[in-house]
Amino acid sequence: MSKRIFISGASSGIGEHLAYIYSKRGAIIGLAARRKEKLNTVADKCRELGGNAYVYQVDAKDRLTAKNAADEFMSKTDGIDMVIANAGIGGHDDLMSGDSTAINNIIETNVLGVTNTLIPFIPTMKEQQNGILVNISSVASFIRAPYHGGYAGAKINIRLMADSWRLTLSKYNIQVTTICPGFIETAMTAEIKKMPFLLPVETAVEKIVNAIDRGKKTFVFPWQMKMMIPLLRIMPDKLLRMFD
Ligand SMILES: NC(=O)c1ccc[n+]([C@@H]2O[C@H](COP(=O)([O-])OP(=O)(O)OC[C@H]3O[C@@H](n4cnc5c(N)ncnc54)[C@H](OP(=O)(O)O)[C@@H]3O)[C@@H](O)[C@H]2O)c1
Repeated sequence: MSKRIFISGASSGIGEHLAYIYSKRGAIIGLAARRKEKLNTVADKCRELGGNAYVYQVDAKDRLTAKNAADEFMSKTDGIDMVIANAGIGGHDDLMSGDSTAINNIIETNVLGVTNTLIPFIPTMKEQQNGILVNISSVASFIRAPYHGGYAGAKINIRLMADSWRLTLSKYNIQVTTICPGFIETAMTAEIKKMPFLLPVETAVEKIVNAIDRGKKTFVFPWQMKMMIPLLRIMPDKLLRMFD
């Protein structure tokens, strides 16, 4: 069972609640995000739940800070069992602005944030011949939703990258799991009005942990959303434009 776990984006939402589940299992958790005070509160709760936690103030876009946090955590725990690259942001492409700042930030956070978080741990996992890498993609990675091309493209990128890494890393006994949630009740979705099959975050993280435990390659949920994907894929542009 995974005891030494590093989670990016652990200051709220899915990352925070994953930390609580693993704390109940007695894990030592590296909690990373930009908001240090929030991380400290999460760390206190992890300890109350029976785990232990270390806090790392990291902007996932910053390769060096992410690498330092990984090294510091592994020096404390003498290795690593699992890394969950969960930090991410949503948002519109903002195409009419004529400025690529917004979309670049979405792509950098959701793609480079994942490589910056996971890759520093891989040499140690290879040496140990053991480890689990998890990335949090999205159902959005299967859908050409208007206004969210940057987000969907980033989430496809990390899903496909993980499919490749699984082939590269399986010979070192490193599991690579991609999680593709539908709508989950977190700060990220607080402003969205129409959210079919919305799940509370506590339910979502239970499903995520179960999928990781079962060694799933790609886990798409909830099942209703998974069933919708083939339909959404063939949906005419005219109908898709109604979203958002
Ligand atoms: N909620 C959903 O419906 C849903 C559906 C599919 C996929 N997802 C994915 O699930 C993941 C978690 O999202 P959530 O729903 O839990 O939203 P959330 O509550 O807004 O959490 C996002 C987390 O990412 C962190 N983060 C954002 N930018 C960061 C950066 N540059 N550096 C480091 N940390 C950063 C935030 O911490 P700081 O602000 O403190 O840095 C926060 O801890 C994301 O990757 C998201 O795309 C969510």
